[in-house]
Amino acid sequence: MITTVLAGGDPAAIARAAEILRAGGLVAFPTETVYGLGADALSATAVAGIFAAKERPADNPLIVHVADVAAARRLTRSFPALAERAAAAMWPGPLTLVLPRGEAVPDVITAGQDTVALRVPAHPVALALLRACGRPLAAPSANRSGRPSPTRAEHVLADLDGRVALILDGGPTLHGLESSVLDLTGPRPLLLRRGAATLEQLRELLGPVDALDESDAAALRRSPGLRHRHYAPRARVLLVAEGAGEAAVERALAAGERVALVCRREVETQALLLRLPGDLAAFGRELFAGLRALDAAGIERIVVEAVPEQGIGAAIMDRLRRAAAG
Ligand code: TXA
Ligand code: MG
Repeated sequence: MITTVLAGGDPAAIARAAEILRAGGLVAFPTETVYGLGADALSATAVAGIFAAKERPADNPLIVHVADVAAARRLTRSFPALAERAAAAMWPGPLTLVLPRGEAVPDVITAGQDTVALRVPAHPVALALLRACGRPLAAPSANRSGRPSPTRAEHVLADLDGRVALILDGGPTLHGLESSVLDLTGPRPLLLRRGAATLEQLRELLGPVDALDESDAAALRRSPGLRHRHYAPRARVLLVAEGAGEAAVERALAAGERVALVCRREVETQALLLRLPGDLAAFGRELFAGLRALDAAGIERIVVEAVPEQGIGAAIMDRLRRAAAG
């Protein structure tokens, strides 16, 4: 398969993409979080193509993207009052809601679970595509399974060249981190995945929201994605406290490793320095692209300094911990 890259802002490109999707093919498209690898969510065969292209484990369910709340309701058995409130305030936007699955949703999307994950993305290219093809789109992040999510079209090409028919290029994504995944099927809202919508925002909007306790096996069953290795560059990642970067770099250099230091401070170091913005939203926007650039530079060890765990910082630290655990 030859992979084509077209400018997402071009109406002819959207029309071509919609045609490919209606025929059961795969199209990668930008969202405000990260790029997604889309297929017709109502076609089990089209969706199976996503799992093959990404080499994604079949037990990890997919998010279904829809153009509006009405389309989301049609894919559920019930749409509780909290879902109405969350959708009214946050959609289009970086919040995914887990709800009781409707009959139209194929098993391959939900990994056999009785729930479905839904969101309305805020990117104009994603919305134009959803409207043009007139059906819901299953779309995980458009990376090879286990790699950092793509925040630019070139990242998608690096991971999926020859495996996807078309990539719509919408430039760098706004948040650079995936959507927050909120399960509304239990007694209280449960945040399964930290993401671009913060826990503070969700609590202000919905009242009490539990954060997933990853040491709780029963809770973990509700978040199949957490079983898998995630967000990891090829280099080994060492997460250290802010201010502890230089010492960690020295140890890595002494061990003969090609090392990079990722931090928000101005530092003198013999390592390759990737200085990310002090502002956490900007840090999040650039993180995955930075990790990929360090891989491309042949770095073996990435020392990353922690960021404060408030607001979007909680999602950043979640991804850094997973990258370091890989
Ligand atoms: O920002 C995003 O969410 C991006 C863009 C493309 O929308 N998508 C994305 O998809 O990050 P993916 O597949 O990489 O991550 C989806 C997460 C996984 O952790 C998966 O396990 C979880 O959502 N998920 C999907 N359906 C679920 C369900 N029914 N119950 C619980 N978790 C679910
Ligand atoms: Mg992903």
